[in-house]
This record gives sequence, C-alpha cells and structure tokens, in this order.
Amino acid sequence: MSIVSDAIARRFGDGGPAGNDGDNDLVRRVLSRKTVRRYAETIPSESLLDTLIACALSASAKSDFQQASILRVRDPAKRAAIGALFPAMPWIGAAPAFFVFLGDARRLQRIGELRGKPVDNGTLEGFFNAGIDAALALQTMILCAESVGLGVCPISVIRNEIDKVAEILALPDLVFPVAGLCLGYPASEGHVSLRLPRSITTHVDRYDDSALASAIDDYDQRRHRQHAIPKEQRRANAEFGEAAFYGWSEDKARQAAKAEGAAFPPYLRAHGFGFD
Ligand SMILES: Cc1cc2nc3c(=O)[nH]c(=O)nc-3n(C[C@H](O)[C@H](O)[C@H](O)COP(=O)(O)O)c2cc1C
Repeated sequence: MSIVSDAIARRFGDGGPAGNDGDNDLVRRVLSRKTVRRYAETIPSESLLDTLIACALSASAKSDFQQASILRVRDPAKRAAIGALFPAMPWIGAAPAFFVFLGDARRLQRIGELRGKPVDNGTLEGFFNAGIDAALALQTMILCAESVGLGVCPISVIRNEIDKVAEILALPDLVFPVAGLCLGYPASEGHVSLRLPRSITTHVDRYDDSALASAIDDYDQRRHRQHAIPKEQRRANAEFGEAAFYGWSEDKARQAAKAEGAAFPPYLRAHGFGFD
C-alpha cells in the first residue's frame, strides 16, 4: 500500500501533503476505503462476525447512554423479504451477511421505568443521540471489517420502506433503523471515490463557502475524467432534460430533487417520538 501522502492525493485528486505524518496501516486503509456491492460466496465465520459486532459496540456513545443496537438478519426468509423490497439493489438480499444498525431510544426509556425515573426519550435529543450512536457503531464495524479484508455497503434505502422493514424485524416503539450493512468478501475491486476538495469541506476559524461554485465545477471535471457517469446511469432526463455536461453535482442535484424518506417522519411519530 502506498504511503499516506499518496493515498491522500488519490482520495482528493490533489497533490497531497508534503510530509508523511500519521502514516500507519489504519490511516492508509481509511484513506483508500471503498464501498463494495458484489461479494464472493464465502461466508465470513461466526466468530469473525462476533468480533466485528464487539468492535462496533466499542464505538463512542453519547453520555455513555449506549443507544445503538445491532440486528443480524440471519433467517433466509427475512433476508429474502427485505431484499424483495429493493429489487434495484440486489446486493441487499445477496450479501453473505446483513446487519441492521438501530438507533435504540427504547432501552434508556425502559431503564428509566426500571429505576422509577421520569425519562422521556422520544424527544429530538433522544432521537438524535440514538441515531448518532448507531451511525458511529456502523462506521466502526465498516472500518474493522475492511481491515480484515471484507467489503461492505451501508443500506439506508431500508428507511424508504420503514413500515414493512419494521414489521419483518419486529421493531418496537422508540427503535428505528439508521442503516443496514451488507458484508462479505469482495468479488469486485471497486474504486476509491474522489472526495470534494478539502478547501470547501474544511473551514478555519469561520465558515466560508464563497468559493463553492468554482470548486464544484473543478471537482466535477476532475471526477468526470476519472469516472464519467455512464449515459445509462443519468437520472431524470424526462424531467430535467439531457445535461450538456453531466457531472457529480448535476447527478446529486437531480437525486436530491426527488426527496426520499417520506415515510420515515410519520413512522417515527407513530412509534414513540414526539421530537419535543
Ligand atoms: C448512511 C449511508 C447509507 C447508504 N445507503 C446506501 C444504500 O441504500 N444503497 C447503496 O447501494 N449504497 C448506500 N450507501 C453507500 C454510498 O453510496 C457510498 O458510501 C458512497 O457512494 C461513497 O462511496 P465510497 O464509500 O466507496 O467512498 C450508503 C452509505 C452511507 C454512509
């Protein structure tokens, strides 16, 4: 694996730092990480999966409330039922292992009841804290899995069918999926995806996005030269027409214009979250 400055240069498409400070195996792996959606048939061992769960649950947790839960979907019928909801993403049903990372505001609520204290964890604070704990556990599993040669793909699309997924998994009130995680040994290489320039995602002493427009134009061009979005993957031509230049920002603007997740807020409100 290349030294850290090369890995930074590849990730951001710039010159990278002059020095090689912070170089170690983990740092280099993180800089070169990539999502994998096609897996070999080999099933990761149960003890490896157990270790990865332990790693995930070692992530930091807001106030030590420990509001992440991890649900392994092992039952083939349940895997198939969830996979069938998302035919455009066949990796959901096909991955050798599939987890769902849950924001779990219920446990703290129950602990309050067990200890006779007036806990209301259906607040925005309770929701946010539980969601962050679950996201940190998710990312910790991702990095540890990748470090032992596995490939993964987080799956937030399950929230688009939240009612059906919650029923399949018997999720109670105050427990909600942040994302699923497909996991297996990679069958394809994938590629390191170019990130936005740090000049617009990093701020010093004050927030300043005055250079956004030109930086995005530049990023679009560089990303297009590395991995042009194929014609057949361009979105919503019927609605927005053929773009003269179809880069990352055109793609993301079209994607974001079709808002996802309409079912999520009513689901949460109907399942214990008042967000007060
Ligand atoms: C919270 C979260 C949810 C995601 N949901 C999906 C998903 O539903 N389906 C999918 O194929 N990829 C999903 N992804 C993967 C992203 O598309 C991927 O991380 C992104 O394109 C950047 O690629 P990279 O991870 O290889 O750098 C998700 C990633 C994150 C962090």
